[in-house]
Amino acid sequence: MRIFKCKNYAEVSAKAASIIAAQMITKPNAVLGLATGSTPVGAYKILIEKCNNGEIDFSEITTVNLDEYCGLTPDNDQSYRYFMNTNLFDHVNVRKECTFVPDGLAEDAEAESAAYDARIVALGGIDLQLLGIGGNGHIGFNEPAAAFDMATHTVELKESTRQANARFFNSIDEVPTHAITMGMRSIMQAKKVLLVANGSKKAEIVEKALYGPVTPEVPASILQLHPDLTVVYTENDD
Ligand code: PGA
Repeated sequence: MRIFKCKNYAEVSAKAASIIAAQMITKPNAVLGLATGSTPVGAYKILIEKCNNGEIDFSEITTVNLDEYCGLTPDNDQSYRYFMNTNLFDHVNVRKECTFVPDGLAEDAEAESAAYDARIVALGGIDLQLLGIGGNGHIGFNEPAAAFDMATHTVELKESTRQANARFFNSIDEVPTHAITMGMRSIMQAKKVLLVANGSKKAEIVEKALYGPVTPEVPASILQLHPDLTVVYTENDD
């Protein structure tokens, strides 16, 4: 495990972007596992700049996202497909058909989940998986549970997660109750994992995840077993 404790969010974003850029330069056809949430936004901005000034190239890159809300159309401004388009994909030379986000509208969510895992295997696995961490220790939408969910699956969101994400919606009632999330197997089989966290409100859960017991009650704690984990975080709120 490599840990970079940064002095602020700008430094977290720069460090995370430089690691993702290095992955893209060393393997131009890499499969990047991407994440939504507020933490990666700064890194995505820097990647856009790097792409626009020719430092990195997305033309052969494939991306697979961690999760998607159930019931939101791709053009809903709270869907994760929309988030990825507006925060990254629309501004770089990635081929949109090579960007994958679980289909939250799939009629058969089980079939969609199985197909998502199969696609990741067919792509040769994920080279670098970017992860945020929820206040309750979730990664993707793998919520605290009695057991680690290994496969991609539909999950009922915890009330704490819906409350945390309500800030993006008009009201808590609009926050979807379910999501499809990549399971632990694809995350743990990623060749490299990059966990980013920002601010004092994440300090305690980062500590628990990295140094506490490995338990499905703190889903991110499974990352202690990953052979190539990099953590980039700050406890500061500026
Ligand atoms: P955040 O969310 O980056 O918005 O803090 C992370 C997460 O809940 O996974």
